[in-house]
Amino acid sequence: MNPTTPDTLVEHLRGALGPTAVLTGPEDTDGYTADWRGAYRGAALAVVRPGSTDEVATVVRLCRKAGVSIVPQGGNTGMCGGGVPDASATQVVLSTTRMRRVREVDPANDAITVDAGVTLDAVHEAARAHGRMFPLTLGSQGSCTIGGNVATNAGGAGVLRYGMMRDLVLGLEVVLPDGQVWDGLRGLRKDNTGYDLKQLFVGAEGTLGIVTAAVLRLFPETPARATVWVALPDLGAGVALLELLKKHAGPRLGAYELVSRTALDLVLEHTVGAHDPFGQSHPWYGLIELEDADDAARLEEVVEAGVGAAFEQELVTDAVVAGSPAQRAALWGLREGISEAQNAVGASLKQDVSVPISSLAAFTADVDAAVEAVLPGVRRVTYGHVGDGNLHYNLSKPDGADDAGLLDASDALTKAVYDVVAAYDGSLSAEHGLGRTKTAAAAAYKDPVELALMRTVKAALDPAGTMNPGVLLA
Ligand code: FAD
Ligand code: MLT
Ligand code: ZN
Repeated sequence: MNPTTPDTLVEHLRGALGPTAVLTGPEDTDGYTADWRGAYRGAALAVVRPGSTDEVATVVRLCRKAGVSIVPQGGNTGMCGGGVPDASATQVVLSTTRMRRVREVDPANDAITVDAGVTLDAVHEAARAHGRMFPLTLGSQGSCTIGGNVATNAGGAGVLRYGMMRDLVLGLEVVLPDGQVWDGLRGLRKDNTGYDLKQLFVGAEGTLGIVTAAVLRLFPETPARATVWVALPDLGAGVALLELLKKHAGPRLGAYELVSRTALDLVLEHTVGAHDPFGQSHPWYGLIELEDADDAARLEEVVEAGVGAAFEQELVTDAVVAGSPAQRAALWGLREGISEAQNAVGASLKQDVSVPISSLAAFTADVDAAVEAVLPGVRRVTYGHVGDGNLHYNLSKPDGADDAGLLDASDALTKAVYDVVAAYDGSLSAEHGLGRTKTAAAAAYKDPVELALMRTVKAALDPAGTMNPGVLLA
């Protein structure tokens, strides 16, 4: 056989995986070379769809021989372009979407082992079938994959009670950049035998290897739920309400999300069936969820006492409690529908920031002034997982304008936001990662020692630099 070079690579991949697992030509690869928002578009030498860990290792070895770089991709729901190839048409996209096996559910160990391409929804379902619950929840859970969730250290609405993906991973199987398979699929809560290597791959965005399987923590189900949608006079009231609810609900507080009126307006306008629970407009809204194993009556008492106290302190001006699973789903729809609704009005600049919760209101006032000075009228679609200090500060074009103005001002707007984030000791990416778009910003705002350490890790694991180059590290 010919030596493996970029020119012969496709032929070698087809020989190893079979012809249908290797796609070439835009008609077959288009779905893999652009992201769901249409914000990133690249081109690929080929898209490969291996069906097993061994096949992933084969692809990695062949690409390494040919000196061709690999872009791992799961559900392609990422926000920063990390799963999309660059425009050179010289990279191979490795899609995990054929790796969909739930390998094992171990209820006694409260653990589940799945292939990287299993969707988050499928993990929820498999856990439920064994009377357990996996607490990561994202608006994208029907499409995003466990491999992608690990690689981005995904967050979402459940972080307040259960932590981020990093906190939910017990073990990983990873194909390393040289093609070796690291079998770290241990379902142990305690393992003090050296560096916690699995954590290196969580949040690495595919730059250190390809996650092929994961062991995840499961939890007891919490079927008793109370879901409340409240109107707030301002963001400061939302922060004070969180503190009040923590006192009343303690560990029963499962989610605390805030939504600005601008964000809600987009959902009401662009989501079929969405309706405003209140008769009049309010500046901000809160979505509160309490959860418990079985004590629904206790949850009702907590809601009554907590929200009652909030009314007395004028933190809340209206409230509605979901009376049925359908009403609960409708309230969550108002929150989870924001991403898609914002996408419907054109380009968006996604800024996924975090600051200490105590600074949220002051931060928002400062950053609002900063972006308004750059592009008057720019629409601030602000919402997020405020229980974690995480605000999605997403910008859309001013009403009546076109996208060009927003895109022309994007560098200045981004700098305006990050300067204020830095002044508040915040993070420029709370949960979406750095991908392709935020590497330059990270290089400008992160501590140089931290960046140098990251480069050292990258060089040690991937000296040839073939794993997702251009992502995470500039
Ligand atoms: P992809 O988009 O395919 O890839 C993301 C990154 O992971 C890329 O860098 C890719 O190279 C790498 N990668 C993928 N699979 C692997 C693998 N097996 N091994 C190594 N690297 C890999 N995110 C949040 O954190 N919180 C939210 O609340 C949230 N809400 C969302 C709501 C909507 C409507 C949408 C569309 C997205 C949302 N996201 C959210 C973003 C996204 O869903 C997450 O980042 C998710 O974890 C990405 O998973 P994926 O399988 O789609 O990964
Ligand atoms: C969400 O929480 O809905 C997403 O992470 C935010 C986004 O789409 O920017
Ligand atoms: Zn989010």
